[in-house]
Amino acid sequence: MSFHATALTLFPEMFPGPLGLSLAGRALREGIWRLDAQDIRAQAHDRHRTVDDTPFGGGAGMVMRPDVVDAAIAAAMPEGDTRPLVYLTPRGRLLDQALVREIASGPGVVLLCGRYEGVDQRVIEARAMREISLGDYVLSGGEMAALTLLDACVRLLPGVMGGAESALEESHSAGLLEYPHYTRPAEWQGRAVPPVLLSGHHAEVARWRREQAEAATRERRPDLWKRIAAGAAAA
Ligand code: ADE
Repeated sequence: MSFHATALTLFPEMFPGPLGLSLAGRALREGIWRLDAQDIRAQAHDRHRTVDDTPFGGGAGMVMRPDVVDAAIAAAMPEGDTRPLVYLTPRGRLLDQALVREIASGPGVVLLCGRYEGVDQRVIEARAMREISLGDYVLSGGEMAALTLLDACVRLLPGVMGGAESALEESHSAGLLEYPHYTRPAEWQGRAVPPVLLSGHHAEVARWRREQAEAATRERRPDLWKRIAAGAAAA
């Protein structure tokens, strides 16, 4: 059974979008994963096909109605569908590679993409959604976040990446930022490639890369560095 993704959205034309190209697109055509985008508006049954309304308590913007969102979920997830239901929102827990791995190793995912100010809180609770954020910034809707989450999952599926090497490399880097990469020409605009990379000494290359990865992590992501150092101390 292939990884099955369903996007619930007011803009189904946004899917598969970039995921129809390159590695993810080839995997989609090969049946390694499936994607369907379902129009939430198809579940709006009044004359104007209303999906949103003004917020109780006042304030800016509109809120997606719980009854319409719930009907869209019911239509997308038959009884016994075990896929996690994810709501993309800046209020969610931050997406990281561990969560990507967890989702990619399951049967698939249902992604609720919000627009406007968001979705009525009651349907989030009633459906026990997992709320996930890409980062501390606000997108105009969940669609780009859903595409990003899927891209990160699909590249981990068996058969997508010529996998073994890249997967191994990732586990070796143990959550550090990557070391810098170089290719030909060996000198470009007066800039030389670090000599150790041309030395042919595999152990020294490995050591240099490890040092570079650690230095970059320490300087650019002290938050990550602290967590890794704490983990190493605990192990
Ligand atoms: N929707 C709007 N902003 C978002 C974010 N930062 N992450 C996930 N979904 C979002």
